[in-house]
Amino acid sequence: MKMSRRNCLAIVLAAGEGARMRSARPKVLHAVAGRSLLAHALHAVRDAGIDACAVVVGPHADPVAVEARHVLPQSDIFVQHERRGTAHAVLTARSAIENGADDILVIFGDTPLITADTLKRLRGAIDHHASVAVLGFRAANPSGYGRLITNGHRLVAIREEKDASDIERRIDLCNGGLMALRGECALDILDRIDDANAKREFYLTDAVTIADAMALEAIALETTEDEVHGINTRAQLAQAEAVMQRRLRAAALEAGVTMVAPDTVFLCADTRLGRDVTIEPHVVFGPGVVVEDDAVIHSFSHLEGAHVGKGASVGPFARLRPGAKLGARSRIGNFVEVKAAEIGEGAKANHLAYIGDGSVGAAANIGAGTIFCNYDGKTKHRTEVGKNAFIGSNSALVAPVTVGDNAYVGSGSVITDNVPPGALAIARGRQVVKADWAPGRKKRAVAKSQRKSQRKAAPKRKKKTKR
Ligand code: UD1
Ligand code: CA
Repeated sequence: MKMSRRNCLAIVLAAGEGARMRSARPKVLHAVAGRSLLAHALHAVRDAGIDACAVVVGPHADPVAVEARHVLPQSDIFVQHERRGTAHAVLTARSAIENGADDILVIFGDTPLITADTLKRLRGAIDHHASVAVLGFRAANPSGYGRLITNGHRLVAIREEKDASDIERRIDLCNGGLMALRGECALDILDRIDDANAKREFYLTDAVTIADAMALEAIALETTEDEVHGINTRAQLAQAEAVMQRRLRAAALEAGVTMVAPDTVFLCADTRLGRDVTIEPHVVFGPGVVVEDDAVIHSFSHLEGAHVGKGASVGPFARLRPGAKLGARSRIGNFVEVKAAEIGEGAKANHLAYIGDGSVGAAANIGAGTIFCNYDGKTKHRTEVGKNAFIGSNSALVAPVTVGDNAYVGSGSVITDNVPPGALAIARGRQVVKADWAPGRKKRAVAKSQRKSQRKAAPKRKKKTKR
């Protein structure tokens, strides 16, 4: 394609304070579907095949810069020391613009629902004939947005709400905030923008009128309101989450996942689900989960940073924490928690078990209520259970400890020493049986309480004799 030969610089604006989030955290670091707003924007940039990326951050925004470099290591960070408007923010990245990209794409860091396809479409418009391309949408409620003033196909101006006339305010075609500029004239246009407006800010949107005055073509493309939904408040964050969840669920269904109640399943942007996976109602996925083909996640399970092998079964009411790695056809039962542990093929963990920091061999059976005691109050230690081993219910395996292949542990044991392969370990109090104990029980109880009251009376006399 012709487009791919042109190179493109993306400038992501993320210097906003986000005061309306009422948060100690920078706005763009809030998450939608387990991924920061900034990361969503940067993923779209990456997936659109953009060559260079400049991220404009505010002062004291080190965590924002760290996140940008984490997601897109080639990001160049620019600090906007004073918030003087969107055009001013773009010009903070002047040295990146001077590198001479064919296309320049300006993206807001607080617009997480934007797709790579739309970014490509916006670039494509510049490739053809326009020098400025703006992404518009039909707003259900246009208040607060800049309005797109068009003349036939041409875009002649963007009027910010505060500067708009009553008639202009009735226009429902609004500015989504994204803009593409032809690289060769970008600086010419940007340098002409001034702050002669209601907010005394350098508005990027003025690029349109300036291009028009320079006899350069500006056009508007349209997208859905969802895609350019900007986040300023927690309510808008929740709305974006709902849109993103709908998208992720639809994509999972499309890819061959069964969900009888998709609206009750919460996915992360990076959740990877194989074919013929079944997810029952009310399952929550945190970041970093992979589920292989044919696995079943039963209701009310919570998974994060976990890998579920082919055909495995999880839950109901299971919790998989980071580093849980379940082998093929393994079974994690109800109220079982697994953390930083590898579960072998076909192994089973039953009701209320806790498996942390260790491994369970293939086909091993972890009885109900078994606990891997991995923490001694200072450090964590590992527990290794061998292949085909059987741990009786309600056992405590005190790490560091190893139970060999094919070994058995008697129910209710507290295992502190290694169990060799094939051995049986029993580590619990021996049972005592007293024959015919019940019939005399009442008499013994009466006699016992009499002895007790005599003992109580005795110390008083003792005290007197002492004095
Ligand atoms: C902007 C558009 C408006 C559009 C709306 C869509 C302008 C002048 N207005 O308005 O037409 O309808 O978005 O949501 O562009 N930022 C900086 N530094 C600054 C100012 C802003 O980095 O000095 C960043 C913000 O962090 C944010 C983005 O630019 O990510 C947009 O700024 P914001 O103040 O939210 O613009 P709006 O008033 O919403
Ligand atoms: Ca905004």
